[in-house]
Amino acid sequence: MKLLPVVAALAASVACGSALAADGAKLYAEKTCHACHGKDGKKTLMPDYPKIAGQNVKYIEKQMLDIKNGVRTNGNSAAMKGVMVIVSDEEIKDIALFVSKMKP
Ligand code: HEC
Repeated sequence: MKLLPVVAALAASVACGSALAADGAKLYAEKTCHACHGKDGKKTLMPDYPKIAGQNVKYIEKQMLDIKNGVRTNGNSAAMKGVMVIVSDEEIKDIALFVSKMKP
């Protein structure tokens, strides 16, 4: 189980030419998630943006995929869709795991 994120991180770093191994925490900052959802997933940029800390991992992953793929277009989803072009499906898995472990 530990190996999968490492492999994904390596693949991602090769793909984007970065030498840094990426993990969920680093990706959360790099992909600017914190700007809208807060550093700890609790203090949101706008009052109608969702707190995501501690949400279950499968749900987080699915919402991120749905927003990325344009399946979820409700509410303020459009605000997040733009950033999702720079987040791969493997990175989504890593970030979802990290967010699910944040203290709600
Ligand atoms: C530009 C602001 C913005 C950025 C950047 C952003 N999001 Fe979002 N995100 C939103 C908004 C707004 C929603 C709620 C959409 C709606 O109203 O339905 C949302 C929804 C979500 C949801 C679903 C929450 C739920 O309860 O259904 C998750 C999970 C999520 N974001 C995670 C992330 C992660 C992880 C990143 C970084 C890759 C990220 N977001 C980047 C604005 C943003």
